[in-house]
Amino acid sequence: MQDFSLNGSVAVVDFSLDGSVAVVTGSARGIGKAIAFTLARAGAKVALVDMNKEAVEASAKEIEEACGVECVPFVADLSSEEQIEPLFSSILEKFSQIDILVNNAGITRDNLLIRMKDSDWQKVIDVNLKSVFLCTRAVFKSMMKQRHGKIINIASIVGLMGNAGQANYCASKAGVIGFSKAVAREGAARSINVNVIAPGFIATDMTENLPESAKQSMLAQTPLGRMGKAQDVANAVLFFASPAADFLTGQVLCVDGGLAM
Ligand code: NAI
Repeated sequence: MQDFSLNGSVAVVDFSLDGSVAVVTGSARGIGKAIAFTLARAGAKVALVDMNKEAVEASAKEIEEACGVECVPFVADLSSEEQIEPLFSSILEKFSQIDILVNNAGITRDNLLIRMKDSDWQKVIDVNLKSVFLCTRAVFKSMMKQRHGKIINIASIVGLMGNAGQANYCASKAGVIGFSKAVAREGAARSINVNVIAPGFIATDMTENLPESAKQSMLAQTPLGRMGKAQDVANAVLFFASPAADFLTGQVLCVDGGLAM
């Protein structure tokens, strides 16, 4: 329980996830790892899914030791249709239920449209959009049966605004937003909340290798004047995953220092 005390009037907001089970994709590093850490700190058991075996095993161990809740690594390539059913069967076998799914795994393959290869278009759509469809479909039946669930999809502000050199990435992230709104309508009657977080410019390995000029340009467009931290995104995920957000569905929350307003 978080205690927000304002001028003597006390509002108690429930951010506890005790007893819940969360699945976080792409959680070996970066934003996904911060999300897994934050949900575990709030009391959720976490299934960390990533294609990077060594890193996801290390992250699960680190988080379990720090938070004292069960954190189990699962290795899968989420763009591969054949790997999804076995993955979610193993997670359900281990934890018996899934209350929270965070679709976070994502990649970039940037190029200007006229130079973009078919393979770079397809790879980005497969990892960033098709995997969200596959993972969401895999948990939806059990969430419908248990009559509750929180699905949080990580898109990007460029899915709303566009960005030169990222036609594939922007299309995938805009697709995640449309997909989430459709599924929010399908799940609402069974208390399944589906929301989207659209991060702005966040300091991770993904953005580290951007040219200095691109970084400066993004910073100049960010009213709060700094890059976001993975933890800034994780805080918003905790909000959507918690009982504090029970009346929110189909929403897109920009965690971007004001960039997209
Ligand atoms: P990252 O590159 O640091 O981490 C991504 C993780 O996903 C890695 O651990 C990687 O192994 C895993 N992954 C990639 N493809 C996979 C696959 N096919 N199967 C399983 N795991 C896979 O990226 P970062 O920065 O942490 O981004 C996380 C999410 O946030 C992505 O969806 C990204 O598009 C989104 N985002 C990031 C922003 C940023 O500025 N860093 C801005 C807006 C959105």
